[in-house]
Amino acid sequence: MVEYTYNVVPIPFSPLPQSHVDKHASLRLLALRTNPECFLSTLEDESRLSPEQWRGRIDTEDRVTFIAVASEIPKYAPFDAPLDPTSSSSSSSLADTSGPSTLLDDDTAKWVGLVTVLTPEFLQKRWDDLPRKFRKFAMRSGKPAHVLVSMWVHPEHRHKGLGRLLISQAVDWVKNRVEKSSVEDKRGDVVLEVFEQNTGAIVLYRAMGFEDIEEVPPSIWMGRKIA
Ligand SMILES: CC(C)(COP(=O)(O)OP(=O)(O)OC[C@H]1O[C@@H](n2cnc3c(N)ncnc32)[C@H](O)[C@@H]1OP(=O)(O)O)[C@@H](O)C(=O)NCCC(=O)NCCS
Repeated sequence: MVEYTYNVVPIPFSPLPQSHVDKHASLRLLALRTNPECFLSTLEDESRLSPEQWRGRIDTEDRVTFIAVASEIPKYAPFDAPLDPTSSSSSSSLADTSGPSTLLDDDTAKWVGLVTVLTPEFLQKRWDDLPRKFRKFAMRSGKPAHVLVSMWVHPEHRHKGLGRLLISQAVDWVKNRVEKSSVEDKRGDVVLEVFEQNTGAIVLYRAMGFEDIEEVPPSIWMGRKIA
């Protein structure tokens, strides 16, 4: 059985190599193809996006996508590696911090999960085009929230803690961003929409501190304070 080490890293928006644009597009389309029941967007719609539109999705400071990367653990230690009798290679492991972004350039590492953070700036620029419910929940506390979208983990890599890691990295990124901002009021919200039938994701979000805000069938909007 192949064993993996997992990391979660944000796609740096600048410089943005074409390989990142292509891998992100493939991963998102795979998510829509594999779990169409979990998303509002459809494979048909997103298959029509142009190369420029795919680039635009990640080539921006106000919309950040975190990628879960799986690196295969070699079965046998290289000849020159010191043997460590205390180490175990019998299970996949989660790295406790985000790895360097060079991980995204490593062709041997697989992109196996993602989550995107839409910042208040992103939402404000498109405010008039957003669905009404989106506007309502993105303004939960009277000021624009950060919104999580596109959460997905490849079926072969589920139940290993990657969902938790994606959410915690995304929420930490938001906390850090708000902390560094010039606004006086550092309080804010992270919100998301999940279909009410998606019990697995709901259990995960609750475990990560998200609370139900309101049911808007077929969805539930959930949120978490960040300060
Ligand atoms: C939901 C999803 C992202 C979870 O990813 P994951 O990597 O398996 O999640 P984790 O391993 O970090 O799970 C953390 C906890 O969430 C809960 N959880 C995750 N998936 C679950 C499921 N299918 N059923 C019940 N609980 C689940 C468990 O409490 C789990 O903790 P445990 O493993 O100690 O029991 C993944 O199943 C997925 O991509 N689903 C399809 C797409 C989707 O639903 N996206 C969300 C759209 S809003």
